[in-house]
Amino acid sequence: MRAVLRDGYGPVDILRVSTVEDPVPGPGEVVVRVAAASLNMADLDHLLGVPRLARLGTGLTRPTNRQVGVDVAGTVEEVGPDVTGLRQGDRVWADLFDLGHGALADRVRVPASALSPLPDALSFDVAATAPHSGTLALQSLRATEPIRPGERVLVNGAGGCVGPFAVQLAKARGAVVTAVDHGDKLDFLRELGADEVIDYTREDFVRGDRRFDVVLDIADTRSLVALRRSLAPGGRYVLVARRISSFAEKALLGPVVSRLTGTRMSTFFWRPNQRADLDELARLLVAGDVLPRIDRRYGLDAAAEAFRRLESGAARGKILVVP
Ligand SMILES: NC(=O)c1ccc[n+]([C@@H]2O[C@H](COP(=O)([O-])OP(=O)(O)OC[C@H]3O[C@@H](n4cnc5c(N)ncnc54)[C@H](OP(=O)(O)O)[C@@H]3O)[C@@H](O)[C@H]2O)c1
Repeated sequence: MRAVLRDGYGPVDILRVSTVEDPVPGPGEVVVRVAAASLNMADLDHLLGVPRLARLGTGLTRPTNRQVGVDVAGTVEEVGPDVTGLRQGDRVWADLFDLGHGALADRVRVPASALSPLPDALSFDVAATAPHSGTLALQSLRATEPIRPGERVLVNGAGGCVGPFAVQLAKARGAVVTAVDHGDKLDFLRELGADEVIDYTREDFVRGDRRFDVVLDIADTRSLVALRRSLAPGGRYVLVARRISSFAEKALLGPVVSRLTGTRMSTFFWRPNQRADLDELARLLVAGDVLPRIDRRYGLDAAAEAFRRLESGAARGKILVVP
């Protein structure tokens, strides 16, 4: 079979398509025939080996894992010993972030317990957009108390991989949503349903007069002291951390700033690939409350090109890689 592999840490040109042996499922595992995969910033970080601290786990000078790709949707092709509840031909989806990656291939070997059933109503392309970034959006919005209809929610960094899910989830819960991103993406953000948009290159939301009940911070560009100005009394801030230093700052100082300012500043620990989250995403996708945006589709041979598009920031929605 064909698989996209890397022998070192970035740049994206190191990616190559190789012919490798077909995977064989071990006890408790299945082999999934990949119908579609999608790219996330986590895939780019994995490829580049950033943050460098992560290399303590992934290999100091060279990656120990050559496989690439976390979001996968496909069908079960082969079932290993001791697997119950899955049969050949079952439609499934998963986030392989902590399961060895490998979605950018014709087939991938996965622990059976990590796979969730994919409803017939969802196409493989649509399903592949959601496990990683959709789960991040769901869990970050759940990190604070639930959004109430009419609350003012600001999503900072709304135009990337996670933001479009977050904007639509907040709208589905009845929020009035302000989306912040680059000026080129404002039309895209309006199409997602944002009520207001802010171009971060022209306006700094922490300096304006507007106050928000919830700030979901995906871009992670400001300090807590600056961010507190954007919150209404009792307002909630949630960080989807981009930088370890920022996560540490906000985890340590958040409780102090919260107490002093009457707000709630929080971080959250992401738990990838939770069955309940994928089931909830499936319901939202089937109901049309969340409409995934697909930017472009690439074949395995064009994986490096797909990653270049992700890296450029030009994508409007998720980038698919389809074997
Ligand atoms: N908390 C956790 O446990 C956890 C777990 C996994 C992942 N993560 C993090 O979650 C994040 C996921 O984000 P993503 O995949 O949506 O990233 P993304 O695709 O890079 O999107 C980020 C968006 O923010 C925009 N942006 C850049 N600078 C900005 C600024 N100053 N103000 C407002 N927007 C700005 C970017 O636009 P441009 O094109 O202009 O740059 C981009 O559209 C990653 O940083 C990842 O590390 C957190």
